[in-house]
Amino acid sequence: MRRAAEILHAGGLVAFPTETVYGLGANALDARAVTKIFTAKGRPTWDPLIVHIANEQQLQQVVERVPAKAQQMIGAFWPGPLTLLLPRHRQLPDAVTAGRPKVAVRMPADPLALRLLELAAVPIAAPSANSFGRTSPTRAEYVLEDLAGRIDAIIDCGQTALGLESTVVDVGETPPILYRPGMVTLERLKAICPDMVRYRVPETPAVAQDSEPSPGVGLKHYAPRAKLTLIEPASAAAIAALVAELASAGRQAGIMLFEEWAPAAQEFSSARIFSWGKRDDQEQLAHRLFSGLRELDSAGVDVILCPLPSTDGLGEALRDRLIKAACPDESPR
Ligand code: TXA
Ligand code: MG
Repeated sequence: MRRAAEILHAGGLVAFPTETVYGLGANALDARAVTKIFTAKGRPTWDPLIVHIANEQQLQQVVERVPAKAQQMIGAFWPGPLTLLLPRHRQLPDAVTAGRPKVAVRMPADPLALRLLELAAVPIAAPSANSFGRTSPTRAEYVLEDLAGRIDAIIDCGQTALGLESTVVDVGETPPILYRPGMVTLERLKAICPDMVRYRVPETPAVAQDSEPSPGVGLKHYAPRAKLTLIEPASAAAIAALVAELASAGRQAGIMLFEEWAPAAQEFSSARIFSWGKRDDQEQLAHRLFSGLRELDSAGVDVILCPLPSTDGLGEALRDRLIKAACPDESPR
């Protein structure tokens, strides 16, 4: 940990676990270090980064002020998987916010992440530690699949606790806006901000990706290499039919399988199966979503068949990731 903190302090890149996914960290106050993140990930410079902080002092280094409503959200959800858009501090390098007036900030709950931030003694800018557009990493091995040779260090702490990224909100707008559904559900946010609304990508006229209020919103993202086919309404019979169709075309299917369907497994015996979790256990589905996509990808399947979870609770976040991952082409939307 001490060595990793030194590397960060000296302007290097360190991948580290948070409670959501692994982040690729650099000193947020060092413009050159921040630039290295974009290079390592192949991330376009118009897509801004989340800054991670461990205490009030680090928060003050990156924001100009904390409006009252944001303070309430902080009281309710930090440390934890909630990212707030706040007025940025002047000293923050432009690269972090892609030149925008607000910076995305969160205090992670993972004790190792907090310890690293304290040892490094600087705020850390960190996107998810994957190649741009690919599945977010929930294990150190997955970080290395994408970034080996491009980073200075990684802190391996096994599988992350939650598995899906933080929720991104701006409570400085009227009404407050939810940009990215995540581990803090809309229901929980509404307990503090009853008028919170989910941002919808405008369909017409097409807005350029880099001028979206939060550039991640409309992007092809989280994608496995295999083709991802989403199934709704989801049933074991629908999956079995698709597996048979693919098999007759000589294509290998992988299945993100709800545990309830395991008894029907002989119907898709030619497919590679990842036992995803119980259909109603959304925390388990969130915990295992990205590892399932990675495992099936590594197994070399041609197509991943995935049932869409229901729309309540964490289902919004799960569906958001899956729909973006299944987006047919690399261009935005
Ligand atoms: O759980 C997480 O949030 C993980 C861990 C590592 O903390 N991080 C993460 O970062 O998912 P990333 O870069 O993969 O996603 C950040 C999202 C993107 O959709 C980005 O467009 C948005 O936050 N974002 C970042 N800064 C912003 C800003 N200044 N204004 C608007 N949106 C911003
Ligand atoms: Mg990401």
